[in-house]
Amino acid sequence: MIHTKILGTGSYAPSNVVTNDDLTKIVDTSDEWIYSRTGIKKRHITQDEYTIDLAEKAAKKAIKDAQIDVNNIDLVIVATVTPDNAFPGVSNLLQKRLGLDEIMTFDINAACSGFIYALNIADKMIKSGSYKNALIVGAETLTRLTDWSDRNTCVLFGDGAGAFVISKSNENKIKDVITGSVSDDEGHLICQSPALKDPAKNVISKQDHIHMNGREVFKFATRIMPSTVEKLLKRNNMKKAAIDHVIAHQANARIIQKAAKTLNIPMDKMYLNIQKYGNTSAASVPLAIDQAIKEGVLKRGETFITVAFGGGFTYGGALIEF
Ligand code: UT7
Repeated sequence: MIHTKILGTGSYAPSNVVTNDDLTKIVDTSDEWIYSRTGIKKRHITQDEYTIDLAEKAAKKAIKDAQIDVNNIDLVIVATVTPDNAFPGVSNLLQKRLGLDEIMTFDINAACSGFIYALNIADKMIKSGSYKNALIVGAETLTRLTDWSDRNTCVLFGDGAGAFVISKSNENKIKDVITGSVSDDEGHLICQSPALKDPAKNVISKQDHIHMNGREVFKFATRIMPSTVEKLLKRNNMKKAAIDHVIAHQANARIIQKAAKTLNIPMDKMYLNIQKYGNTSAASVPLAIDQAIKEGVLKRGETFITVAFGGGFTYGGALIEF
């Protein structure tokens, strides 16, 4: 039986830091409102780096951490809602920057759950026996889809990237991954593609920005995150006490607190870095896991659950022994 494990992780955020106080110069808001409602203190906002640049930096760190010859990577998946082009994909451009050739590379979009979708796909492709070492990346420049005049949304998002190398293993470390979706056909969380074109007019397409019904998203998140954690535990015959950490999508500290309460898991097991990064969509989960490792919070041999929700509405969770 083929098993999988995390060989290495890396993350990167652009150097430009924007605090809540900085945002008070742009919209009618306050540090008190943002921090008390979301747990966010600051976020990183790109000025000259694109999604491919963030992805490359996180990927190179993960490859170095994995101590693997880059040529042994045979699969690259990038999860993003902010690809630099409709095509080629971020993954295709990343392939060249990493010096890889003739391997399978593709992008996926499952919004903030995208990294767990990528993990599920790569995990199953390795377990099929066809691939050995996958590079999976979550990378976003979400602030370019932000409406900087909408205080309901602009305070929430940031830019960043995170990456894992996951590999074929004799030990069963990536124990289970769940992904799913519940169609958000009412558009509670949406960023539209350009409108259809009349060939006779050929009007230049405009890029939409993020629209969000925060309360509906909050309701979905606080229902789906606990139920996904419970499902993972049940499917794997595990008790909550055996879980050392829960590393959730960093969208709002209050969502994570509410999920912890529903699950009856103490907050000291719920890792938080939202205060420094805001919501970085598909980058959020690998960025948080990499930081938890580098800070010495998540240690080798410990067991954790990662769980996410996002536009779509999508959700995902994984049970992993690090
Ligand atoms: O990856 C998925 C992405 N999205 C999410 O995870 C979002 C989930 N939802 C949330 O996190 C919360 O719903 C928010 C943080 C977005 C909003 O928190 P809330 O407690 O649901 O606030 P609210 O939308 O009910 O707004 C309360 C008040 C309103 O004023 P009135 O109508 O009561 O006078 C808003 O206009 O707060 C006002 N408000 C703000 N005030 C200062 C909204 N945004 C701001 C702001 N600064 N930035």
